[in-house]
Order: sequence, then C-alpha cells, then structure tokens
Amino acid sequence: MGSETTVQLRQAMTLIEKASLMSGANFWNTKPIERLGVPSIMLTDGPHGLRKQGGAADHLGLNASIPATCFPTAATLANSWDAALVERVGTALGAEAAAERVSVLLGPGLNIKRNPLAGRSFEYFSEDPLLSGTLAAAMIRGIQSRGVAASAKHFAVNSQETHRMSIDEIVDERALHELYLEGFRIAITQGDAWTVMSSYNKVNGTYANENRELLADILRARWGFGGLVVTDWGGNNDRVAGLVAGNALEMPSTDGVTDREIVAAVEAGTLDEAVLDARVDELLSLIEHTAPRDDAPAADHDLHHQHAIEAARRSIVLASNRGGMLPLGSSAGRIAVIGDFAETPRYQGAGSSLVNPTRVDAPLDALTAVDLDVIGFEPGFRRRDAASRRLRTRALRLASQADTVLLFLGLDESAEAEAVDRTHMRLARNQLDLTREVIALGKRVVVVLAGGAPVELPFADDVDAVVLGYLGGQGLGPALADVLTGRANPGGKLAETYPLRYEDVPNAASFALTQATSEHRESIYLGYRYYDKVGAPVRYPFGHGLSYTTFAYSDLVADARSARVIVTNTGLIAGDEVVQVYVEAPDAAAGQVRAPRELAGFAKVHLEPGASATVEIALAEHTFHVYDTGIHDWRIVPGEYTVLAGASSRDIREQVPVSIAGEPLVLGGSANYVTGHVERVDATEFEALLGRVLPPADWPTDRPLTRDDIIAQTKGRGGFASVLHGLIEGTSRLLMALGRPHASNNVRFVFDLPFRSVERMSNGGVDAAMVDGLLLMVNGRFWRGIRRTVSAWWAHRSRPESKAQRTRPKSED
Ligand code: BGC
Repeated sequence: MGSETTVQLRQAMTLIEKASLMSGANFWNTKPIERLGVPSIMLTDGPHGLRKQGGAADHLGLNASIPATCFPTAATLANSWDAALVERVGTALGAEAAAERVSVLLGPGLNIKRNPLAGRSFEYFSEDPLLSGTLAAAMIRGIQSRGVAASAKHFAVNSQETHRMSIDEIVDERALHELYLEGFRIAITQGDAWTVMSSYNKVNGTYANENRELLADILRARWGFGGLVVTDWGGNNDRVAGLVAGNALEMPSTDGVTDREIVAAVEAGTLDEAVLDARVDELLSLIEHTAPRDDAPAADHDLHHQHAIEAARRSIVLASNRGGMLPLGSSAGRIAVIGDFAETPRYQGAGSSLVNPTRVDAPLDALTAVDLDVIGFEPGFRRRDAASRRLRTRALRLASQADTVLLFLGLDESAEAEAVDRTHMRLARNQLDLTREVIALGKRVVVVLAGGAPVELPFADDVDAVVLGYLGGQGLGPALADVLTGRANPGGKLAETYPLRYEDVPNAASFALTQATSEHRESIYLGYRYYDKVGAPVRYPFGHGLSYTTFAYSDLVADARSARVIVTNTGLIAGDEVVQVYVEAPDAAAGQVRAPRELAGFAKVHLEPGASATVEIALAEHTFHVYDTGIHDWRIVPGEYTVLAGASSRDIREQVPVSIAGEPLVLGGSANYVTGHVERVDATEFEALLGRVLPPADWPTDRPLTRDDIIAQTKGRGGFASVLHGLIEGTSRLLMALGRPHASNNVRFVFDLPFRSVERMSNGGVDAAMVDGLLLMVNGRFWRGIRRTVSAWWAHRSRPESKAQRTRPKSED
C-alpha cells in the first residue's frame, strides 16, 4: 500500500514507466525515473556480511566486493540460541549497508535444513522452524533498525541446490505449513520484514515466484505482509504470472525484455493495470523508506570486528569433553597444533554470500598469543583431499613430541557452496587417516571442527574433546582460543541434529537426485522430530552443547501459555545456559501422525557460580496446534500434554503435565507415517498423503528441449547437446583440479540454468532469438541453429538499445 506521495507519483507515470520499474537497471540497482525524481536503490547480499561489488557484478561470489565485516554464518549464529546477539549482528550489518548506500540487504536466509548435504546449509539457521523464525526475526529487526530493508529468503521450500532453478518440491500441506512456512511466518510477523525474496524452485508444481497461494493467500492475506517481493536473481519464469501472484521486482536487469511483456499484457487486457499499480506502489514505498541517506555514519569496522569475535565465541559448541579435558590448563602440557584449518581457517561459505572480510584472525595466531606451551604447528593434510605423505609424517612427528594435540579438521571450500549439494557426509579421507594415526599415538586429542553442516565423526568416541566451531566469521580465531583456554565458557547448543551416519537421515535415499522433482516423503518428520519418533541413536542431539560448569533445573511450572523453571549454576565458574522447553504430545503421539516432542520456547541465561534464576519462557503460538488439512488452517489438538524443560532435546531435566481442552482430533495416517519410519514410504503411500497422483519424477526425453528446460537436461541427448554438457562438466573438473573450487562450482551452476535464463541473466548480451538458435543446436539441428544464432546476434548488435547497454559505464553495475 503506497503513501499519499507514492500514489501521486505512480499516478503521474506512464504505463511504460511503471513497467520499467518492475525489473532492475543492472545487476544490483532498480531503475530510476529521473523525470519524476524517483531514485534508483541498490539491493545486495547478505546475509552475514555486506557484499557490495564495486566493479564487475555477479551473484555467485566470483568478483571481489568492497571489504566488509564477515560475521559468523546463520548456521553458526543459530548455535547461540541468542536472539539479542543475532539482533546486534543485524544492526551492524544494517549499519554497514547504510554506510555504503545499500537499501536492501539480501538476507536472512531461513530455509529449513532438510538434509545435511544441502549446499547452503551454512546459510540457514536450523532444522526447527521456531528457532529459525525467531532468530531470523531478530536479524531482520537489527538490519531494519538502520533504515535498510532486510529480505527474508528464499520463500519457500528451497531445500536443495541440485537443479534449484527448476526443481519441483513436492510437499504435503501439513509439512509445508508446520515446517517450511512456519519459520517464515514467525520471521515476517515478528520481524516485520520489508522485503521477501521468492525462491527459484517450484512448490507443488508452480514456481514459488508465480505461486499465488504462497505469495498472495499466505504471505499477504494470512500473515499481513505489506512489503515487496523480489525474485531471486534470474528466478523469473512468466513475468506477468509473477506480477499477479505478488512479485513486484525482478532482478537483475532483463534489458527491458520483461518490461515489454508487462506493457503488452496490459494493452492486450490480459493484465489488469490495477495489479501493476499495486506492485509499483510497493516498490515506491520501499524506495521511500530506504533511499540512501547522506548522513549515514561510516561503518566502524574495528568495533564490528569485536562484535564478530563475540558472535563467534557465543556460538561455539562444546560437543564432548571427556574427563574435563578442556579448558586447556597447565595439565595440557606441550601442545601441538595440527591441521590446515588452524592456519588457513574456513570461516564462511561460498557463493552469493561470499564476503571480502576486513581482516581474518586465524586460530593459530590466537593460540600462540596466549599463555600455552604450543610446541609447533603442522598442516598435516592438504585441502581437497590431495595426498601428502610428507605433511602427514611431519604432523605425526610433531604430535609424538606433544602431550596434547589440537587437531583442526573441517569441510573445505570445495565441499560447501551455493549451487551444489554435497555428495556425502564424510570428512576428506586424508583428514580421517591422519586423525586415526594421531589417536593411535595415545596422546590427548581435541578435535576442532570447521564446516557449516554436520559431518560423520567416526572417531568421536576415541578423542578427548570435540569442539564445533562451524563457520565462525572473521573473528573465529580469538573466539576459539578463548573457549579452548577457558577465558570464555562455551554456551552454544546445536541448532540441528548431528546424525551418526548419513544413512540415518530420513530422506537420505531421495535427496538431491538428478530429476525433475524432489519428493518430501518424510513429511513432518525432519531432524529431531524423526530421530525421536523412531528412537534412533544420534551423534549429538538437537540442542546439545556442554559447558565448563553445570546447571541444575528445578521447580518447573507450566500452563498453556508459558513455562517457568529455576536454573542454578552448580559449578565453579560463571556460564551461559540455553534453557529449552519442549512439549510432548499426548501419549508421546504413539499411534498418530505426530512428532513426539517439539521445541516450544527457549531462553539463554547467564549465571554466576552458585546463582539461580527463575527463567520464564513464553510458549510459541502453535505449541498445541497442528495444521489441519481438513480446514486448511491451524487448530488446537486437545489432550494431556507434558511440558519438558531441559538442556537438549534428549537431556530433559524437569517435566509437568498440562491439559489442553478443545474439540478432539485424531491425527491418523498410513502405517509408516504413524510409526515415523518415513524412510520406508513408497510412492503409493506418499500419494495417499498428498491426495493426488505424483507428477513424473524423470525429465521427459522424448521431446525437444524448450526454453523452460535446464541445461543439465542436455546430458545423454547426443550431438551438440552432449558436447555442450561435456564442455561444462570438463571445465568444472579442470578448475577443481587446478585448485579453484569456487570457480569450478560456479561453472557447474550453469547446468541448472533454464535456457530462458541465458537471455535474462546476460544483462542484454543475449536475446530470445539467440536462445532459440541455441535450442535448435542442442535439439539436433546444429547448422540451422548456428545460422539462427549468428543472424540473431548480428541483429541484436545493431539495435540502438543494446549498444547503449554495452557502453554503460562500469560503475553502474
Ligand atoms: C542467491 C540469492 C542471492 C542472489 C543475489 C542468488 O543466486 O540464491 O541468495 O541473494 O543470488 O546474489
């Protein structure tokens, strides 16, 4: 809804001007209308640091951006369970954006972590929607407190990178609302985000960006969202359908192609101009709220670096600590620091979130600066699993001279990135081999792990301590040193379950397949909801994290709205405890389609030794509800619930019954949904849950490729199609072999582009006729395609507007 000024502005615009506002001027800016004084605003990444590119623009982190503070990524921050901390990080992000005249920061990312192999897990908060939504809301409030719009992304069900621009996420209504939308609902309603970014994928057959149910019925009508929806970059399919569903801004520039489609639709009467007007009002009101201010203070990068250290410190998870091995004291004796990640840390993921940090403090430097007897450092292994007997031998020699080994392991840069999912959940073989040999020396071993998502830890029971640093941002070095030495007492708790083995993940067999659809057969049973339902052992449960002190819980009382419990620090040093409240469904939901327990609230408290606090926790709005597919809405399920307070989902300390009244509802279902053994659900059982027949999972091979098909579909088609596929595959492999994993992943990203995006993402370099020529080539009519492409290219080149495009000054990008 526009203000009086924006409505007047819009009324003064021509149809062409209004349509022109609906797509970018270039990669990062909206179009100005100089005649009316409408400025251009800049949108840029996000989410854990500003990525403002001064020179050549791209959305995959290829070209450098101006230096900015790299905070811990969302997967890391989530382990703090600390909304106030996340809000402070958001405020600093907003301040850096405002100082750089950026109006929209593209974050937070809050998709639900459906599978540990998902390539962007490091950018998302949790497997739990309450935790995700609460922290995302805090980050949004922080960013927007500086007059910069946040963008809650990627709405919705963007659960994998594989074929992310075309994949059809098939998900049942209950799981959609209870898991995939609930975090967004909380973030939008509690954080009041001014913008939302629609995701690339389809949801139940319709592109998210054209999905009226998602964008109009749910986001706006139900949740009261009054802001602007922007596409993900290149994530527009049918421009007019997107506009009608509620998308106002397509990014990046399409060289005016889709603006002309809007004008044509209005003129033909197929698009009501009032729809366009509503979208224009949304954009004008965003511009009005976020236009850069000349008085925005310069960012204080030194102060923000301190914030980054604090954020990392408060997010570190002490996963195990046998015999109180940590913190390292004088009994640690001579310490060997081993592992490449100590010297060259991994502190962020790759892709559009790649920040050019103002500085990076490595753990090795921080450890040698404190009062420890560090006798040396050896990298021990090479990145990307490259073999090196020499590095291993040297590391073992150093380890044999030490009493304690600090072993820095992790996922390397090639493993975790936007646009690619991991293919397995293991650490590199060279790291596993080294770890085994270090353990065999019989020394005390502390493993410090880097990475934005769980990995299998087969050695976990054979080492003395495991510290999960996740991706700690540019301040991770001092943060880790503080925790290892006890200058800081760790208080982080896992925001996701660490499974024992990948095979234990409920959707392990069906995740990220090379096909047209991704079937969420596991429905509501994700993460701890699944492991608890089937009673599966896990490496570390959701919510787990140790401290150097101990806490006792007592006197829990609860009703339908809140829980109150007394927490006492029973140890000798001050510490933080994340008090978690779960609610157990009646009879722990045996015999029903329901998770046995769900997170209902949490709070973080700081307690001096011996001190107690009464912690009051409001229960989440939907604590006693399920999404009832009969009425398409949330409703209370009555019964005798148990409210639990504990230190993790599997470390429950106190419990009290709470009786909830209401109309009875039996959550029945087929066998595997009742037992929770969703790994056994077949197509027929899933179809019964969905209430419809599944669309074909495989890509059609019996017809020519069209603009809507993706480049990966050239595989196995023979002729030029196979040559093109081989070329992309070969280039990606070559770059990986040359030690350029980011570039390699970015080449691989091309596979997932629909043919239509070649035009849309070329910033005016390629037009639709040239894409049609390319399609002829891959569809077996090579020479005809070549001729069509060349003549289209020539015609395109001669058009005056493309010349203007090509000669536009660089600084506009
Ligand atoms: C990513 C978004 C990002 C955008 C702009 C896309 O590829 O999915 O998260 O904000 O690029 O860089």
